[in-house]
Amino acid sequence: MKKLIIGNWKMNPDSSRVASTLFQSYKTKGSRLRRAKVIICAPFVYLETLAKKQTTQCAVGAQSVFFEESGAHTGRVSPRMLRNLKVNYVIVGHSEQREGGVTNEIVNKKVKAAFDERLKVVLCIGEHERDDEGEYLSYIKEQLKVGLGKIPKKFYVHLIVAYEPIWAIGEHARGASTPEDFLEQALYIRKVLAQLTDKETAMKVPVLYGGSVNEQNAEGFLREGRADGLLVGRASLDADSFKEILSLADTIK
Ligand code: PGA
Repeated sequence: MKKLIIGNWKMNPDSSRVASTLFQSYKTKGSRLRRAKVIICAPFVYLETLAKKQTTQCAVGAQSVFFEESGAHTGRVSPRMLRNLKVNYVIVGHSEQREGGVTNEIVNKKVKAAFDERLKVVLCIGEHERDDEGEYLSYIKEQLKVGLGKIPKKFYVHLIVAYEPIWAIGEHARGASTPEDFLEQALYIRKVLAQLTDKETAMKVPVLYGGSVNEQNAEGFLREGRADGLLVGRASLDADSFKEILSLADTIK
């Protein structure tokens, strides 16, 4: 399975021109990759332009989606709108969205609506804090159980899980987690996914690491952590860093 390196641009960059230039450089890089694939999750306003430039090696995704099909939902974007733009990936349940009131129940509706339009879902999960009693594991389990509640097994081929411990995300993060820790979390995530479906289905779901990934720590997560890919925030806006991450990912079998 190719390593999935997903760039989450968040509310950046400021103009379509800069977005296109950055995307173009990742597209060129992507065309040379054999063992990795790039997906750039850009702000909605750039999706149409970028989707026209995308290739199978450098695809475009959205950072969120609403769960209704159409109607009086000011400022929302539907899964079908994305589908019609040929945007095939969407991040659901990013912690910055959850902070804004997106609950596990809402995540579930979004996942369902996205799958109904045959989009591929990057489901973000991760705890706020670590505790010694293992409460954080129940938190992750709940995010998966509710977020994927009543999702038919047949859709799991379109599911990607991104484990992003919230304490490791963003400028004010305590720093990235460790490959050893990720390895353990990914095992746990697969165990829960197997409870929701079956072992074989769970094993096929790519589990990615996210949170302060950069060119220094990326290889560790992919190699020792055996991550199926990475969800990269800040470093995906820095062309040199991101291309270095892609080169590293491409060396891993
Ligand atoms: P970061 O963001 O890489 O800047 O920590 C990751 C994310 O929020 O997806």
